[in-house]
Amino acid sequence: MLRTKLSSTNPPRVFRVLRVLGVSISTSTVSPTTPASPPHNHLLPRHNPVVLGGIGSLQAKDVVLSFKQWFKSPQNILLMDQIFRILSDLPPDDADAALGRLRLPLSERFVLDVLAHGSDVLSCLKFFDWAGRQPGFHHTRATFHATFKILARAKLMSLMLDFLQNYTELRYVHRVRFYDTLVMGYAVAGKPEIALQLFAKMRFQGLDLDSFAYHVLLNALVEENCFDAFRVVVEQIRMRGLDNEITHSIIVKNFCKQGQLDEAKAFVEQLVESGRVGLSGGHMVGLIVDALCKRKRFGEAGRLVEEFQGSGMVSVEQAYGVWIRDLVRAGRLDGALEFLHSKKESEGYVPEVCGYNILICRLLRENRLEEVLDLLMEMREGQILPDKVTMNAVLCFFCKAGMVDVALELYNSRAEFGLSPNSMAYNYLINTLCGDGSTDEAYHVLKHSLEQGYFPGKKTFSILADALCQEGKLDKMKELVLVALDRNIMPSASTYDKFILALCKARRVDDGYLIQGELNKINKVASKNTYFNMIRGFNILNRADIAARLLIELQEKGHTPTRSLFRAVICRLCDMDNAEKQFLKLLELQLSHQEPNCQVYNFFIDGAGHAKKPELAREVFEMMVRSGIVPNLSSDILMLQSYLKNERISDALNFFSDLQKRRKVGRKLCNTMVVGLCKANKVDIALEILKEIREKGVTPSLECYEELVKVLCTNKRYDVVVNLIDDLERVGRHVSSFIGNVLLLHSLKTPELFETWVHAKDAHNEISSPNLILGQLIGEFSGCIGVNQDFNYLEEVMQQCFPLDLYTYNMLLRRLTRSDMDLALELFNRICQKGYEPNRWTYDILVHGLFKHGRTSEANKWVEEMFCKGFEPTEATKLLI
Ligand SMILES: *[C@@H]1O[C@H](CO)[C@@H](O)[C@H](O)[C@H]1NC(C)=O
Ligand SMILES: *[C@@H]1O[C@H](CO)[C@@H](O)[C@H](O)[C@H]1NC(C)=O
Repeated sequence: MLRTKLSSTNPPRVFRVLRVLGVSISTSTVSPTTPASPPHNHLLPRHNPVVLGGIGSLQAKDVVLSFKQWFKSPQNILLMDQIFRILSDLPPDDADAALGRLRLPLSERFVLDVLAHGSDVLSCLKFFDWAGRQPGFHHTRATFHATFKILARAKLMSLMLDFLQNYTELRYVHRVRFYDTLVMGYAVAGKPEIALQLFAKMRFQGLDLDSFAYHVLLNALVEENCFDAFRVVVEQIRMRGLDNEITHSIIVKNFCKQGQLDEAKAFVEQLVESGRVGLSGGHMVGLIVDALCKRKRFGEAGRLVEEFQGSGMVSVEQAYGVWIRDLVRAGRLDGALEFLHSKKESEGYVPEVCGYNILICRLLRENRLEEVLDLLMEMREGQILPDKVTMNAVLCFFCKAGMVDVALELYNSRAEFGLSPNSMAYNYLINTLCGDGSTDEAYHVLKHSLEQGYFPGKKTFSILADALCQEGKLDKMKELVLVALDRNIMPSASTYDKFILALCKARRVDDGYLIQGELNKINKVASKNTYFNMIRGFNILNRADIAARLLIELQEKGHTPTRSLFRAVICRLCDMDNAEKQFLKLLELQLSHQEPNCQVYNFFIDGAGHAKKPELAREVFEMMVRSGIVPNLSSDILMLQSYLKNERISDALNFFSDLQKRRKVGRKLCNTMVVGLCKANKVDIALEILKEIREKGVTPSLECYEELVKVLCTNKRYDVVVNLIDDLERVGRHVSSFIGNVLLLHSLKTPELFETWVHAKDAHNEISSPNLILGQLIGEFSGCIGVNQDFNYLEEVMQQCFPLDLYTYNMLLRRLTRSDMDLALELFNRICQKGYEPNRWTYDILVHGLFKHGRTSEANKWVEEMFCKGFEPTEATKLLI
């Protein structure tokens, strides 16, 4: 299947490009108007994806084929790959035999190519060794030099010195001049002192270096800043008449290294004037350009390039390459492109493959995909062979362009053209495949990248991890994490968290625990969230003992638990067989870990209360007092709640009266008592307490009134309700949404509330009370006052009494459904317009009303919509369906 979306602002361009690629498109099959939702992807921005709807899998194959053809270069890449596979996979004797069977065309050039191709030092050395043992082939200074450079690059100095040591003992050495090789070796190894000593020694013995070795030594002296020795050796070279273009280049390099850029420039100018500059001219100019750019003297560098171009020097293109590279590096991508285009136009300049690569990679980074494609096409048309970097960039390009199928196909056939993905390509592939939902493919790519020694970047890792967790592919995820830990790579805390959460959700808390154990092993601390998830996970599985252990561990790791976490663990502990023992064990452990304080005790009092163990709560409370810690207000409130929640009313009252001796009873304690008593349906005691505190001049909280009104209405004690509403006004509080809603709800059910209301008001002869309107509203809802169908009017009236919420609107809706369904439907729209999200009750009321009015087909449509929103009708409504 092809998910062909090529990002472009200009669809016809895309077609043109695909045509260039050999993909035939008939425009009629293309429907760029088909909107496509781009796959969700965090990393890769997509600009105006254009869907090439008409391109089926055949065309994707064509794109792949076209690139494959280009990639399959006449270079011996495949042969090289084979050589290196043999060297790395086979034991020495088998490798020798296998290499022999390949009948390699050994020559200096070929050996140099193989050495340049290899990326693994040991295999290069093995090859060097093997080649040296083949009859008819002798290593040359160039092959030695190449090997030395490989070792030096890999910073394997001891291996190199070892190699130089071995060198004398090996059979093939006598073919090459002994000292030359040693001097070169030490020079390349960054040990010019030793090289100079050897040089002196051989001169003492009447021997001399040859031109190649002289230049290797000279170059090393510049690299290591041995400027005095440099002057001496240059002189030696000149005296022997060995000086050539290479000497000139090294001299320029020396000037640049010492910051003598004017001298460098003058030197080259002089060479140009005397007509002694050949192929290395561009290289020398490049050195100066590079040195200028490093000093941010871009203007001079640009002028220098033009100046030497004007001088008619050959091979000035080398300097162009350096100039382009330096511009890109300095972030002047547009300048580089402009330079390239103008030189292409005026001089037919074509960059080398690495020049293209630099531009392409930067353009990719800036998501300038069309320009990337242009350059790729230019390379292809110019028959410039792509190298590894180009191929990797092509892979990334297809990922970014939303053609991950093509990228994947190229990746899968990488063996055909010797593509070895780099970490950037792996990251892109994995990210894009995850974004496309192809998690399994992404995982395969990842496994391969691990085999190649690449580990994905942090972001890629977490994208893949998220995808695996989300899809519940937890075994793969586990493997991924273990591999990461194996490499001492620490997945981010959020990755861990998601993984452990996913494991907990899948009831695999043990695995989560295991992963967390791995973390502990490498001395990494799981995040607080991770601990919380695991503790909850074990709790759900009724393994509160482990949860309790983790609760302590979490604090040892420096995290702070919350009261609700403590509560959850304690509740589960108290469900266990020996609840009390377990509870006290945890308390003891906790106290041994921390200086006992109010908070710890409070957590346990709260937990015990919620676990329906008020005696345990009391025990903790007593312990606290015994250990000399003064219970603070929270302790007292929690203790009271423990009693009240568990219907231990007399205990609560006793505690409360004790409290009154200890501290001044304020709003918070009263609130606790009144609300708790209401919830336990002890409304008279609650009223008593309310009265007491009112007498003490404390203003009760609104919540007290709310709970009282609710429980009183439920008990149909409307007379008390009316008094309370008056009292509310007296203490200067207003009717809340909650209270308003309760009142209207009961009005809808029965006229009694209204009757009681009217009666009480008449008795007091209150006419101007602000609650007059509330009374009227109650009347309206009870159906006692002439029904007013205008909901705008009702809404306005309600707004005068209390702040409205969705619950209020639902009630208004319900009231309207009794008389006028059309108005009710209108109100529904109005509710939505007001920005409320209709809930289950909103829908249910509407559906119920429609059925009651016999508007069955409409009702059924609404039922469907209700299901769509994930709501189910209430039982009463279901009876009507
Ligand atoms: C040097 O010779 C020893 C013994 O033959 C061998 O084990 C070692 O690999 C050689 N080192 C190099 C760098 O070739
Ligand atoms: C009681 O003490 C705990 C722990 O120090 C504290 O978190 C809480 O806020 C205190 N409660 C009151 C009402 O001061």
